[in-house]
Amino acid sequence: MSADLSTTSEAMKSSHIVCSVRNLTVTYQTDAGDFPALHNVNLDIQQNQITAVIGESGSGKSTLALAMLNGIALPGRVTGGTISLSQHGDVLALRGKALRRLRGPVVGTVFQASQNAMNPLRRIGKQILDLGRSHGYKDPRILLREAQLLAKKMSMDPDRVLTAYPHQLSGGMRQRLGIIMALVLHPEILLLDEPTTALDLLTQSAVLQIIQSIHRERQLTTLLITHDMGVVAEVADTVVVLYAGRVMEEGRTAAVLRHPGHPYTRALIKAIPRLTGSLDQARPLEGSPPDLTMIPRQGCVFRQRCRYRMALCDNESPSLKQLEDGHLTACHWEGQSDD
Ligand SMILES: Nc1ncnc2c1ncn2[C@@H]1O[C@H](COP(=O)(O)OP(=O)(O)OP(=O)(O)O)[C@@H](O)[C@H]1O
Ligand SMILES: [Mg+2]
Repeated sequence: MSADLSTTSEAMKSSHIVCSVRNLTVTYQTDAGDFPALHNVNLDIQQNQITAVIGESGSGKSTLALAMLNGIALPGRVTGGTISLSQHGDVLALRGKALRRLRGPVVGTVFQASQNAMNPLRRIGKQILDLGRSHGYKDPRILLREAQLLAKKMSMDPDRVLTAYPHQLSGGMRQRLGIIMALVLHPEILLLDEPTTALDLLTQSAVLQIIQSIHRERQLTTLLITHDMGVVAEVADTVVVLYAGRVMEEGRTAAVLRHPGHPYTRALIKAIPRLTGSLDQARPLEGSPPDLTMIPRQGCVFRQRCRYRMALCDNESPSLKQLEDGHLTACHWEGQSDD
């Protein structure tokens, strides 16, 4: 586990907020009506930190990533809130040239399954040159030289991978190249949506190590989206737990893993054998992730899967309360957990 409480809180003091999401609500229109995929979400991304957003499928992670790029399109709509980037103002108000600059030079993104998003008919190197041209580089070969250095650092043969077509490379290589394509534009924020999900465990671990070492070396600000608490434990400084589009818990990774306040966070930790310490103790999450149209409109959205459900949970949505410095949780239950 990388996050040590004493050293990370020192790092926290010296960092500042690069991006702050306030009361973000994103609604999708469906045949059954309008439903919020994100509801009043607040999130701060600190400079030089790896901030993780974790949640099961459908919790709204990719919706958050899209919103950060001001890319929510119909049937989705941002129905409330702001996303402020230092020096750029509210992302949701950006248009035209400023919006094009946001997507790449300001927020470098590796999309979920980005390996499938590459152009299959164009060599990787050419795609990097295209990227440079589309962002107005007079000499896009600068990007290619940078990509060569990064490829070497990521243990790949630059000549081979940059002259290859995507299908000639392994999934792990394509994922690393996706990260390189995001990095060559020197973004202020690196946004990674499930960067290792499609990979086997060994390749996943190698890619995570690369993300961590490049993050440190380049002093990046990284937002890492994942459904795997093991990934959070390995690389994240802070973590935000999302369920049904609501923040359930947030804090320094070490504190959240040591003293998880929310039953949902505890369940996410319990599901990962390398965090529980043994395969026997690991337990898959009970119940299914909520369907957007089935999320309760009032009360706690997690209550149907929660063993600590009380009458209060049916009527009142819990707000985030501080457990300790910077560690917050949204749960009515205040007793001792036995799970
Ligand atoms: N274009 C859309 N139209 C209608 N509903 C949508 C649309 N996109 C997403 N949703 C719904 O919004 C919710 C959040 O979706 P989102 O893709 O953000 O989740 P996620 O956490 O990224 O999930 P995953 O882990 O599967 O990638 C889901 O219930 C999803 O079905
Ligand atoms: Mg997603």
